[in-house]
Amino acid sequence: MTESPLPVAVLVSGSGSNLQALLDDPGRGLDFAICSVISDRPNVTALDRAQDAGVETVVVPWSDFDSRETFTTAICDAALGSGALGLVLAGFMRILSQTAMEHFPDAIINVHPALLPAFPGAHAVENALVHRVAITGVTVHFVDEQVDHGPIIAQEAVGVRPDDDVASLHERIQAVEHRLLPKVVGAFGRGLLTVHDRYVRWEDESEEGVD
Ligand code: GRF
Repeated sequence: MTESPLPVAVLVSGSGSNLQALLDDPGRGLDFAICSVISDRPNVTALDRAQDAGVETVVVPWSDFDSRETFTTAICDAALGSGALGLVLAGFMRILSQTAMEHFPDAIINVHPALLPAFPGAHAVENALVHRVAITGVTVHFVDEQVDHGPIIAQEAVGVRPDDDVASLHERIQAVEHRLLPKVVGAFGRGLLTVHDRYVRWEDESEEGVD
């Protein structure tokens, strides 16, 4: 078992309902600790959620930077400054440069509202409806240098109903996100996830030795 919770910085851009799921998770403080919440925008609800939970917040405004590289460096500096050993992208709507992967190798986790590799990008829920798929879902994956592309850690399907609109489908997808993301971050915090090329192995805790 891990002796102390793994410190992670959670990156947000908006409402922060996934952040709230992490804040509320029983594993917080045991398997992982949220050492900072970093937003690319001021005045978003996610920052209020962090402050209500007594977690340090940092705003790194996208518009203050002249390139993705300088923005990414500032994000990493903020995360490292708070002691983070990993990043969780929870509704974070910016793409980080390779610099982030160098600072946090196999240690950046993203949640995406579709079954990747279907429907990457910012309009995954809308695109699932446009394509009239019967099943979409949630992917939690490690981040690599391509958008919504890195090794898949966990997926769960969500059925699409004939009368769904973006709001109703996204609501059911988010209910799954709020369960799956904390489960993955907890496993990451316990050191149970190892990456082998594109394959993520979940170590079986029951195989660990007992002290
Ligand atoms: C989530 O559905 C996430 O998958 C997507 O953006 C949404 C963010 O929601 N990338 P929230 O800010 O966590 O409420």
